[in-house]
Formats: sequence, structure tokens, C-alpha cells
Amino acid sequence: MKDIPKVELHLHLEGGAPPEFIRGLALEKKVDLSGIFTDDGGYAYRDFLHFLEVYEAATSVLTGPEEFARLTTALLEESASHGVVYTEAFLSPDFCGGADMIAWREYLAAMREAAEAAERDLGITMRGVITCVRHFGPDQAKAVATCAADTAGDFIVGFGMGGDESAHTPADFAWSFDCAREAGLAITTHAGEWGGAKSVRDSIEALGPVRIGHGVQSIDDPALCDLLVERDITLEVCPGSNVFLGVYKSLKDHPIQRLRDRGVKVTVSTDDPPFFRTTMTREYEGLAHTFGYDEETFAELNQTALDAAFCDEPTRDKIRKRLTQ
Ligand code: HPA
Ligand code: ZN
Repeated sequence: MKDIPKVELHLHLEGGAPPEFIRGLALEKKVDLSGIFTDDGGYAYRDFLHFLEVYEAATSVLTGPEEFARLTTALLEESASHGVVYTEAFLSPDFCGGADMIAWREYLAAMREAAEAAERDLGITMRGVITCVRHFGPDQAKAVATCAADTAGDFIVGFGMGGDESAHTPADFAWSFDCAREAGLAITTHAGEWGGAKSVRDSIEALGPVRIGHGVQSIDDPALCDLLVERDITLEVCPGSNVFLGVYKSLKDHPIQRLRDRGVKVTVSTDDPPFFRTTMTREYEGLAHTFGYDEETFAELNQTALDAAFCDEPTRDKIRKRLTQ
């Protein structure tokens, strides 16, 4: 499973921070983060909202461009070791200098340099999807979208939104998504992870995404599944994340295969691997074990992911060759 060349579309940069990396920075900066770690070196949280709190606490000790560059390197080394050849990382100007344009450019330059080095040294290609955080509110999202529009190009290729799906409404963020789209960025948004099918439908109507982060609860609404097919919207499904957070009791109960059976385009990602004690290899092993996915199924999932990737066509062609090597 490890050696299958993989495309990952849903990976939060800060969510990929190894606990020991964050613990080291906290010690260095004399910030007491002891409450966010488990005894065996993982991250500790009770439920989804507490996960978001712990995520932000961990992120708070990452403070300069150089630290985000080191984090990018660590993330890409880990992904490459699991066969990932192309990854889209969610980058958050909120956590990189508070969505200030000048600071953001510096953070981005450092992360891009780290990504280019990883491409040279490890053969993994990364592109960035800028995300605003829903529970930080629509005004903050405007600042993030402005950073996104300003740095859109061949490296920053998309715009999206994570965070607490119950905060505000998708329509409250329409300005930010329109701003990003007008700058040429492709659109995705988290929906239907903790929110039900209605959350997905409202997001599609208000924000016009071509991909949805998670979207798994669409399975409860057959007409919505039809709409996803009709609009050719691809889901960034993160089965391990959903099971770890308790959206589904076990992988057996996860709707990934039922979505595929309905003709919905799905892809496989890790979301925040150390938070959910997962890797791309583990995701594939789980799917093989639970649903009998074989090499052919994984090739199909990776092709779907590559088709839905936000990169330019020369990059897509290059990655296509990597997938069939
Ligand atoms: N869901 C919503 N927001 C997030 C997540 C997630 O899984 N990870 C980081 N931000
Ligand atoms: Zn996510």
C-alpha cells in the first residue's frame, strides 16, 4: 500500500504537525501546552469542537516563516514516505501573521521554498489551497481572501474554508469566495462533515465549489447526491478522520462506497494525520480491508483526485505520468 503512487487533496498544513515538533516549540517558547498531548505522544481532545481548540493551541506556537518552512518540510517528508506524489495543502493566513498581507507574503515565500526543495529532493509536488476559518467569521475571511487573491498563481491554486461548520452560514462568506474566484482560484469548502446534507446544499448554492471537503453526509439526501453528480463536484473524503472524530462508528459504517455506488466522485485524504493517528498508507489499508479495494480501485481514486486537482495542466500531465509509472 505504501508504494502505490498517491494524490492527496485534503491536508491541513498545521494539522500535519507532528506532536513532538509542537512540543519542542512550546518548550523553547515556554508555552505550557502539556494539556494537549496524550501520554503516548499524540494529541488529546474530547470531541470535534475541542479538536478545533487543541488544533489552534498547537498552532499558536508556530510563529515565524522559518517555522512554517520547517513544518512544510516535515509534512512533505512524511507524505512522500507514504507514496504521495502530489498534495494540496490547506494554508491559513490566519495562523501566518493574522492574515496581514505583508506578513503572509513572507510566510508563503518560506513555505514555497520548502516545497520546491521537497520536490527536488523527494519528488513530491505540493500546491497550496488557502483556507479561511469559518468560526473566525466573515470579516476575517475577507482578509484571508484578499491575501489569497493577491498571491494566486501557479503555487496558490485554490481557496476554501475549514473550521466549525455550525458557525455562520455559507452565504455570509460569499464575498470572500467571489473575491478568490475572480482572482482565478478554484473553490472548495468543508461541508457535510458535522453538518448534515443541508450544509452541503447551502454551501453549493452560496459558494459554487467544484470540490467539497468531506461532504460525506450528502449520502442522506439522494437528490443531493444527484446534484453532486450533475455538477461534477468531487468529494475530498477523509475516512480515518471521520471515524476518529466519531462521525461514523467504524469504517464499515462510512459511506465512501455508497457514495461511489451512487456515481459521486470521491477521493481519499488524511485531513490532519497525527491528530487522527492516520497516514495515507493506513487509509488505503483500511479501505482494502473493509471494502475490498484493490490496486485497480486505488488507481481509479487517484485518477479522480488528479482530475480534480487545482494545479495547471502541465503539472497534471507530469503527475499523470508518475501515477502510471
Ligand atoms: N474540519 C474542519 N476544520 C478543520 C479540520 C477538519 O477536519 N481540520 C482543520 N481544520
Ligand atoms: Zn479538513
